[in-house]
Amino acid sequence: MSEPPSSHPVSTAGPVHLIGSGLLGASIGLALTRAGVPVTLEDASPAAAALARDVGAGDLVTPGEEGRAEVRVVVIAVPPDVTADVVLTALRRFPDAVVTDVASVKTIVLRELWEAAEAGTISPADLARYVGSHPMAGRERSGAAAADPDLFAGRPWVLVPHPGSDPAALLAVRNLAVDLAATPVRMAAEDHDRAVAAVSHVPQVMASVLAARLLDAPESALALAGQGLRDTTRIAASDPRLWAAILVGNAGPVADLLAAARDDLTRLEEALRGAAEHGPLSPGAMAAASTTVDRGNLGVSRIPGKHGGARRDYAEVEVLVPDSPGELGRLFVAVGELGVNVEDFAIEHASRQKVGLATIAVLPDAAQRLADGLHEKGWRVVGA
Ligand SMILES: NC(=O)c1ccc[n+]([C@@H]2O[C@H](COP(=O)([O-])OP(=O)(O)OC[C@H]3O[C@@H](n4cnc5c(N)ncnc54)[C@H](O)[C@@H]3O)[C@@H](O)[C@H]2O)c1
Repeated sequence: MSEPPSSHPVSTAGPVHLIGSGLLGASIGLALTRAGVPVTLEDASPAAAALARDVGAGDLVTPGEEGRAEVRVVVIAVPPDVTADVVLTALRRFPDAVVTDVASVKTIVLRELWEAAEAGTISPADLARYVGSHPMAGRERSGAAAADPDLFAGRPWVLVPHPGSDPAALLAVRNLAVDLAATPVRMAAEDHDRAVAAVSHVPQVMASVLAARLLDAPESALALAGQGLRDTTRIAASDPRLWAAILVGNAGPVADLLAAARDDLTRLEEALRGAAEHGPLSPGAMAAASTTVDRGNLGVSRIPGKHGGARRDYAEVEVLVPDSPGELGRLFVAVGELGVNVEDFAIEHASRQKVGLATIAVLPDAAQRLADGLHEKGWRVVGA
């Protein structure tokens, strides 16, 4: 990859050394390399490291051969269960560097580091150079092949300093987040872990449990699948090894929320059993079903909208798009010619059909103009 360095000035002082060159490590390496920051990388898997080098995420070094005196920042992007060990080794290997990790759980990592400090395995001065972090960006695919230098753009990047963290180390990790176009957010480890249990870890469990219900579904049922199922199961394709480490690493907060979800499910299940036995009008059945969906409406309305701002209510225009090359491009050109900004976009392919249903989300006052304009340009508008 030979992309020109970014024109934006960066504050991160290199060289940066990456330990773990999978999806997260290689994405960080790609972004820093593009910004002109020298990056070296290593991985427990020589093949993973070579792949990251080949996609342009940095220069390969074998442990012990890196220019350890020059390294300013070390970023550790390995699974959560081995993160604390790798942080400890890195603090010793790179005596002058700021060390951060990007693991999705923070309390267990910090606890292991404190235990090491108490046992005298590491000095308080060395621990001061560590600031944990967690970019709230990712994908359901692992490895450098899926890496993307723009993965962090516009996403929160949680900074988790501990009471002994050096302010200069915190600033260095903050600069790294900003240089990668992320928005730094400071949190305590416990608050972070409770927050990500709700917005990331329990959603992963729910998607996995839901998708697992499809294992016994006949082909004829799966052929009916639409966008609702795709939306709610997309992350069920995530890496089991990584996610097992994340879930057990954040066991308490995840278990608490699962218990609450189980209570909701039990209430609904009991009401539906009543309806199945005594008919749909059996007392309480409608209320239980409606409450379940209603509370979901309220919950989803609390998810912030585009760019992390308050959620906006968009209007949707639905258009049939022929399933042939260039048609989506033609649709976007038409929308652009009408001077309408696309706030969100989705396309649904009904199986065995030669068309897709494109849903274009726009500001409410632009919806009718878009629908009329697309109709005039010959598009089949099916809903606005
Ligand atoms: N995938 C996501 O969406 C996401 C998002 C935010 C944060 N994270 C966190 O980032 C970290 C990395 O996740 P990923 O998605 O890049 O995983 P990944 O599987 O793509 O990459 C992890 C890499 O770490 C290497 N590795 C494992 N143990 C190692 C060790 N002891 N020393 C050196 N290398 C080692 C593996 O060989 C692998 O190449 C995890 O802690 C994860 O919780 C992931």
